Amino acid sequence: MGIQFKNVSHTYKGIQSKYDAIMDVNLNIDGKGEFIAIVGHTGSGKSTLVQHMNALLVPTSGTVEVFNTVLPQPKKAKINHLRQKVGLVFQFPEYQLFEETIIKDIMFGPKNFKDSEEDALKKAKTAANLVGIPESLYEQSPFRISGGQMRRVAVAGILAMEPKILVLDEPTRGLDPKGRNEFMDMFKKIHEEENKTIVLITHDMDIVSEYAKRIIVMKDGYVVFDGKKEELFEHPNFIDFYLDFPTPIKILKHLNQTLGIPYVPQYSERDLIKYLEAFYE
Ligand SMILES: Nc1ncnc2c1ncn2[C@@H]1O[C@H](COP(=O)(O)OP(=O)(O)O)[C@@H](O)[C@H]1O
Ligand SMILES: [Mg+2]
Repeated sequence: MGIQFKNVSHTYKGIQSKYDAIMDVNLNIDGKGEFIAIVGHTGSGKSTLVQHMNALLVPTSGTVEVFNTVLPQPKKAKINHLRQKVGLVFQFPEYQLFEETIIKDIMFGPKNFKDSEEDALKKAKTAANLVGIPESLYEQSPFRISGGQMRRVAVAGILAMEPKILVLDEPTRGLDPKGRNEFMDMFKKIHEEENKTIVLITHDMDIVSEYAKRIIVMKDGYVVFDGKKEELFEHPNFIDFYLDFPTPIKILKHLNQTLGIPYVPQYSERDLIKYLEAFYE
């Protein structure tokens, strides 16, 4: 179950040009309990890759299997049910809000999947609660709230469909540091309490290091690393991945070189502080 990529390539075809955006990708993603970060330079194929996870794109060659449905499907086969199992939140999802009220916007997905008004409302309320949208805002226009709240409403709209896998394309982009942390804590809560698999594209290595368990690195359309974060930051070819080290690792490397403090990797600011306090006690 979950998602399997087998030798997947995707080529964008223009009128005069072709572009190989991802090449020969092999991946397995569990239907529950994973927290995966996808990283890599701009244009490395991250967004193209994740759009295969709910059939927004289909492979040019190779196959993607999503909860036992194999893509590409014969023409006209219905694949809508995949969009319910794998919820994809685009970059800047707030631009996709369109209903008159917040609650209607969140209910749109479940209603589209033929839920009754009552069921859709119930799911929408649960989702709104998960993302911290209070009941007092339900009847407001989604265009009259702050940018951060608009993005929460957009995420709730996906969560209301009760996907097993939540895929997020740069969800914290453009948020201030406080908003960023609140968003990440929200995804962590959804991951832990609901045991949902989270697949997150980000450029922020501090987020990767603090929250992800598994990391997929893309470079020039290829998956060049797929493994635990603990392995990634110690990888002998790390420099070839065009990535930056997370702040706690950078600080520890520096302290190791300048003060001889033993290099024991720490993955969050909090853990780094604990480690240094224990060291100086
Ligand atoms: N619709 C499209 N048509 C043609 N080329 C595209 C299209 N979308 C993306 N590309 C190209 O494919 C490559 C990978 O893009 P993308 O998957 O968006 O990378 P990333 O998300 O890692 O920045 C880039 O070179 C991009 O210019
Ligand atoms: Mg992208």
